[in-house]
Amino acid sequence: MDLGVKRGKKTLKFERFSDWRTDIQLRYSDGAKVLFVPTMGALHQGHADLVRTARALADSIVGEPTEVVVSIFINPTQFNEEQDFATYPMTPDEDVQLLSEAGADAVVFPTLEEMYPGGVPLVAEPVDYGTLTASLEGEMRPGHFDGVVGVVRTLFELTQPHWAFFGEKDWQQLAVIRQLVALEFESLEVVAVPTRREQDGLAMSSRNQRLSAELRMLAPQLHDALLRVAADTRPAVVEAAKKSLEAAGFEVEYLSVARADTLESGPLHQEEMRVFAAVRLGGVRLIDNVSCM
Ligand code: PAF
Repeated sequence: MDLGVKRGKKTLKFERFSDWRTDIQLRYSDGAKVLFVPTMGALHQGHADLVRTARALADSIVGEPTEVVVSIFINPTQFNEEQDFATYPMTPDEDVQLLSEAGADAVVFPTLEEMYPGGVPLVAEPVDYGTLTASLEGEMRPGHFDGVVGVVRTLFELTQPHWAFFGEKDWQQLAVIRQLVALEFESLEVVAVPTRREQDGLAMSSRNQRLSAELRMLAPQLHDALLRVAADTRPAVVEAAKKSLEAAGFEVEYLSVARADTLESGPLHQEEMRVFAAVRLGGVRLIDNVSCM
């Protein structure tokens, strides 16, 4: 797939999925294949990769109209810390520019009312996909995946996509969404897009913007630690990697080796495993993961 595509076409902006739906009915009277990229905005090149992957797939479809649509919605129900929600970065103008360059046909900034017609629930409906929702992020951020699954279900219902694109940076979220799709959206295909990293290895994330210059210099040590464990998953190596992060000023929430598909731990073959970490650096929470292959 050629991901270098740059198109001169402007991305259409909508404030409601209902307006976007009316618009695509006018643009494609026989319907279009929908390629959907859900986001919370504050977009970076990692998001651009999701859109470029969707664009390349759309452009490879011959004889049928396609629509690459992106949503930007900061979902309140997936934040388990009020401060994190209140300070989540918002850069709508830059986002639209990035989306035009990456080749999105449309972007929807849905209202709270459209996403939560009955009002935002104080507590999202619980979701239990076993270890997928209970381990790692599920354990550290109670209720997080309840909010993610609830909002992604609504987004899928509103966009009715044929393909949906998610980043491997949020590997556990990707696994949870795959399970949602397997259970409830059988004709939808989930496309996983590799993590985009800065030159020093730090995984791109909207939260990186909150790191001070000094902490930004330390942050790549997280990726270094993951690579050390991926090369040698023995418990002593995991412990040493944790200690070295802590000595550098990271607060380690978890640094764990688990099965890539189910996230279960236990004795495994090297090629089936990934290393997952969540840390805090000066109050900024960073997550990352790498394969052990
Ligand atoms: O990955 C994200 O940005 C969010 O969790 C998602 C999938 C858009 C749901 O709010």
